[in-house]
Amino acid sequence: MSPEHIECDSRKGGNPGVFLRTIRSFVKREGRLTVGQDRALEKDWSIYGLALDQGRLDFNKTFGRNAPVIVEIGFGMGQSLVQMAQDHPEQDYIGIEVHRPGVGSLLLAMREQNVDNIRVYQEDAIEVLKQSIPDQSLEGVQLFFPDPWPKKKHHKRRIVQPEFVALIARKLTPTGWFHLATDWQPYADAMMEVLDEAPYFENRYGRGQFSPRPESRPVTKFERRGEKLGHGVWDLLFDRIDSSANTC
Ligand SMILES: C[S@@+](CC[C@H](N)C(=O)[O-])C[C@H]1O[C@@H](n2cnc3c(N)ncnc32)[C@H](O)[C@@H]1O
Repeated sequence: MSPEHIECDSRKGGNPGVFLRTIRSFVKREGRLTVGQDRALEKDWSIYGLALDQGRLDFNKTFGRNAPVIVEIGFGMGQSLVQMAQDHPEQDYIGIEVHRPGVGSLLLAMREQNVDNIRVYQEDAIEVLKQSIPDQSLEGVQLFFPDPWPKKKHHKRRIVQPEFVALIARKLTPTGWFHLATDWQPYADAMMEVLDEAPYFENRYGRGQFSPRPESRPVTKFERRGEKLGHGVWDLLFDRIDSSANTC
């Protein structure tokens, strides 16, 4: 079976070699929409929204131009993604978030700040990566402040696992990068362990080293909340390297 046919996750399913994904990195919260978010969804989802049933994307068609594409996983309320897209009009962005008010908030901010180089999925990022993003197509992937799942019994819900990292590697161009940040030190250490062991990534700052905070990353909403609680912040920056290793 080729790596493409292996479902990447931690639980084995019925067929030998096929991994079925049963543990998710999020819990669906309903959350009420504000009037502004609701209106933004109504007006702009048909312009900027993407769905899994559209199948594999052709970025030139999706964005109407040929430009580097960056994916942000779990953008929360989206302010920092909109800021980055505004700061980099020469790049295109795909935001993925399961929380509907967050998607509404992103669309509202795009309209208010006149930003149109973002497309958005309200889906599980793992499914989007597997089903919709072509292999070797992304310039970068951003994962800022993923849910830390601090209790040991919940660690299996953390999105950063070897199979996930292999999936990201498969989607990056040979010169692509993966930028992660967290305010939870035990998760930062766990991320470092997984990434440093991945044969298809190289730590830009040397094995085991965290990155200085890149100026390009705006402070996110979750980060600001952590700052108030006295949390530190750890950035990790890894570059895709050519490797014959199996990525899944
Ligand atoms: C702790 S919040 C951080 C939000 C934002 N990055 C920030 O820094 O403010 C993590 C976000 O990831 C989203 N999330 C978790 N797992 C996800 C997945 N598999 N696909 C898409 N979004 C996910 C959650 O809904 C949540 O909004």
